[in-house]
Amino acid sequence: MKLRRIGGLASGQPPLRAEDYRLLRDLVNERLGVYYGPDARGSLERRLRERLAVRGLTTFGDYYQLLKFGNAQEEWDEAAELLTTHETYFFREDYQLRAFKNELLPQLAKAGRARRRLHIWSAGCSTGEEAYTVAILLLESGLFDGWEVRVYGSDVSKKCIAAARRGVYTTQAFRTTPEAVRSRWFRQVDGAYAVSDAVRALCHFGQMNLLDDERTQLIGRVDVVFCRNVLIYFDAASRRRVIDMFHERLDPGGVLLLGHSESLLNVSTAFELLHLSEDLVYRKPTLAPR
Ligand SMILES: C[S@@+](CC[C@H](N)C(=O)[O-])C[C@H]1O[C@@H](n2cnc3c(N)ncnc32)[C@H](O)[C@@H]1O
Repeated sequence: MKLRRIGGLASGQPPLRAEDYRLLRDLVNERLGVYYGPDARGSLERRLRERLAVRGLTTFGDYYQLLKFGNAQEEWDEAAELLTTHETYFFREDYQLRAFKNELLPQLAKAGRARRRLHIWSAGCSTGEEAYTVAILLLESGLFDGWEVRVYGSDVSKKCIAAARRGVYTTQAFRTTPEAVRSRWFRQVDGAYAVSDAVRALCHFGQMNLLDDERTQLIGRVDVVFCRNVLIYFDAASRRRVIDMFHERLDPGGVLLLGHSESLLNVSTAFELLHLSEDLVYRKPTLAPR
């Protein structure tokens, strides 16, 4: 039977009213940083509609009440899954990774030679490809043998973190990975590719909301933060909050790498610009600014 459609919804299902949209959108923004603009009502409605059915709720207003006032951590996990974009692949934005490998890693090896410790954070790592890519670059550089090297991968999505810990990927994830790299650092398992033990040993994954100040403290101090293709979905105030948090987590001299479409313009003057041959990155000054 064909259902009659009212305001973009099959009849029988509750529409997302404008006032409920504003409430939900602001709540989502406050909790996750992700911002749904004035034209995104349909998108939010499509993404969350299935949760009303699962929860046996009749209106989006009830769903708002559940998220806002219920004991709702589990529901937030489900909502975050649906409200965020998880697109990622190995060796994404290769020009930046070249700059990281050829210019930043030698600088970090020199600066850290007394302490022999390198901690890197892939913040918003989705299913883990970015963190594993970084680990591969560290191993291939040969600059950190015998050092304490850790790559932390964090994401608000529980399912993504579970996939990152599994570390098994299909060919899609390798769309820009050279064949030689894939055969060196992955082994074939039932038509898929599993991360090798050497790469896996450097990586540690955990679920974490970047706006959760208590959880982000657990990362400790790091030398490099990768936060790529995460903050583009945030509003300016949440972006600023997260970037301030990165500044606090970075050791002096530490570096922040954002995605190519993201900019710190008007966000923070606490970082200095570091011009690399193929990229621009942000560095926490070694001396506190006067
Ligand atoms: C498009 S993916 C980017 C993955 C990877 N960094 C890359 O560039 O390929 C964005 C990721 O950010 C995560 N994310 C969104 N909001 C977040 C938040 N408040 N805290 C932590 N992770 C968040 C999403 O779950 C998603 O997996």
